[in-house]
Amino acid sequence: HAADARRTDLMTITRFVLNEQSKYPESRGDFTILLNHIVLGCKFVCSSVNKAGLAKLIGLAGEINIQGEEQKKLDVLSNEVFIKALVSSGRTCILVSEEDEDAIIVEPSKRGRYCVVFDPLDGSSNIDCGVSIGTIFGIYMVKDDHEPTLADVLQPGKQMVAAGYCMYGSSCTLVLSTGKGVNGFTLDPSLGEFILTHPDIRIPKKGKIYSVNEGNAKDWDGPTAKYVENCKFPKDGSPSKSLRYIGSMVADVHRTLLYGGTFMYPADKKSPSGKLRVLYEVFPMSFLMENAGGQAFTGKQRALDLVPTKIHDRSPIFLGSYDDIEEIKALYAAEG
Ligand code: AHG
Ligand code: MN
Ligand code: MN
Ligand code: MN
Repeated sequence: HAADARRTDLMTITRFVLNEQSKYPESRGDFTILLNHIVLGCKFVCSSVNKAGLAKLIGLAGEINIQGEEQKKLDVLSNEVFIKALVSSGRTCILVSEEDEDAIIVEPSKRGRYCVVFDPLDGSSNIDCGVSIGTIFGIYMVKDDHEPTLADVLQPGKQMVAAGYCMYGSSCTLVLSTGKGVNGFTLDPSLGEFILTHPDIRIPKKGKIYSVNEGNAKDWDGPTAKYVENCKFPKDGSPSKSLRYIGSMVADVHRTLLYGGTFMYPADKKSPSGKLRVLYEVFPMSFLMENAGGQAFTGKQRALDLVPTKIHDRSPIFLGSYDDIEEIKALYAAEG
């Protein structure tokens, strides 16, 4: 059946989203246009990542960003590409990027109804050694044509209309949710199109993997320490779990979605709010997790219920398989 393996009826990401949106009579095709511009940004970054070593794109750009991090050349390039792609879509009114201190208010002539929050290049520390990195995005919609303000993006994650990420890994994979399930698309480089390869992703109910930067263990709180201890030395006779930690949130979350288990960036004494940023890291990934049947918890509450007060706010995050996050929630509840 060799010929059967050849796809002839191609479900491109554009076709898929057009199908989805056609169920809404009020849909004007704006979302599809916005998504096409995001896809263009992802393709550009993918191609830059693939030739980084050849095109002198490795190394530092020389600036420190608002996060206090040294920007890599690819952080700066990806940020520029996404801002230009999003503004030129004519469908956005306010943009928040990890790399920019202030939100970008789109000029009136190019405005649309969507707010996009994004991490243009996630996993910067992995760029120079060729390990998987990614882009993360979340999308809100404003209700009317009022002058855009920060209040439009300082919204709980459950108000997002869509979220996704693109992973620049052994293949280039875009994972998207518009609030009803999660779907994965793989870039066919010969076509330049993302093709549906992972329809309706469901995270396993329970996993065999945990993922955390254990180098911070001495500064963890009780419940985090206890959970990781249980992963290694289970008290109920179940097998111990495997540890996997890449250090790129996109890659660690992607593996967690497909294989199950937990990914966490907990609070520690040095960073009481953890490291990951609420708007463009915690929210989009939590939105995807819930839409795939998993959970996302901050140590105090459902992550998607958080109300950010500043655009670069951070939060501890525990996300993954439904049962595994239940276990973490129980440990925090026991703590009181
Ligand atoms: P970014 O590269 O966008 O700044 O994000 C880095 C994040 C995230 O990708 C990853 O989960 C985390 O940093 C890893 O942090 P540690 O090196 O502290 O483990
Ligand atoms: Mn960064
Ligand atoms: Mn990041
Ligand atoms: Mn980043």
